[in-house]
Amino acid sequence: MASYCFLVFALCASQTLSITIESVPSADVGGVILTELETTVSLVCRSNRFEDEEAELVWLRNGAKVALKEGNRQGQSTVCITPVIHQDNGATFTCHMGGNASVEASVTLNVTYPPTLSGSEEVWVEDASPLFLQCDTFSNPPVSSVHWTFNGSTLDLLAGGFTIAEDGYYSRLSANKAEKSKHEGLYRCVADSPVYGIKSKDFLVTVTEKTVKFPLMPIIAGVVVVCLTTILAIFSRWDRIVKCCK
Ligand SMILES: *[C@@H]1O[C@H](CO)[C@@H](O)[C@H](O)[C@H]1NC(C)=O
Ligand SMILES: *[C@@H]1O[C@H](CO)[C@@H](O)[C@H](O)[C@H]1NC(C)=O
Ligand SMILES: *[C@@H]1O[C@H](CO)[C@@H](O)[C@H](O)[C@H]1NC(C)=O
Repeated sequence: MASYCFLVFALCASQTLSITIESVPSADVGGVILTELETTVSLVCRSNRFEDEEAELVWLRNGAKVALKEGNRQGQSTVCITPVIHQDNGATFTCHMGGNASVEASVTLNVTYPPTLSGSEEVWVEDASPLFLQCDTFSNPPVSSVHWTFNGSTLDLLAGGFTIAEDGYYSRLSANKAEKSKHEGLYRCVADSPVYGIKSKDFLVTVTEKTVKFPLMPIIAGVVVVCLTTILAIFSRWDRIVKCCK
């Protein structure tokens, strides 16, 4: 009796229209696919009525229809995401029956990427001008901490008159007036990522002497005079120039 019930149940189950998505890399139980930038994710959607040629499938990316080629819609349909980009992080791909949107399955991408921190940059700042350093801390998952060092030790905010601003995308270090004795040296921005570990970038700051500003007004006046003289000269010779050209 029990096996009979099971048989009936199995028959009924096989009749129920359903959809499944298989992916490379595969999704976790919550339908999340863990991937990285610049890689490829392939998704295959299948209906359990493969024999039914009419069972047309539709793919949506964040609710917008994905254009599918002829022959990639009946019974089974493949979508390839290559290369994976930042904007694919959190994107949901849904596959449903063409005739009945309530028969559907979906997966979501979790695209991880490290903060783009590496190498070193040389920075020249004029004496008494603002000093501004910026490092890119944008990453998924977010960095757990960011800190700055100066000449190998923890940056003394007060002594250097520094301010640090962080917004999840950048960490920005600034000082209003650069002074050679206080601000010249090696700065390092250090970010700690729970997945990618420690990433850092160096800034070698040199404070230069104030350059003498160009006497701009006399230069402009001079240029104007030269231009006018040239134009007048061309005008006075216009007759001759025109004659030459004939
Ligand atoms: C769509 O499929 C669901 C689940 O199989 C079913 O309950 C519903 O009646 C179907 N709707 C239509 C319009 O066929
Ligand atoms: C994405 O994956 C990372 C690394 O496993 C994890 O820390 C993070 O919580 C995941 N994000 C989401 C939205 O699932
Ligand atoms: C930091 O180190 C550089 C290079 O060794 C040195 O020239 C500079 O004076 C140091 N800066 C401070 C404020 O100690």
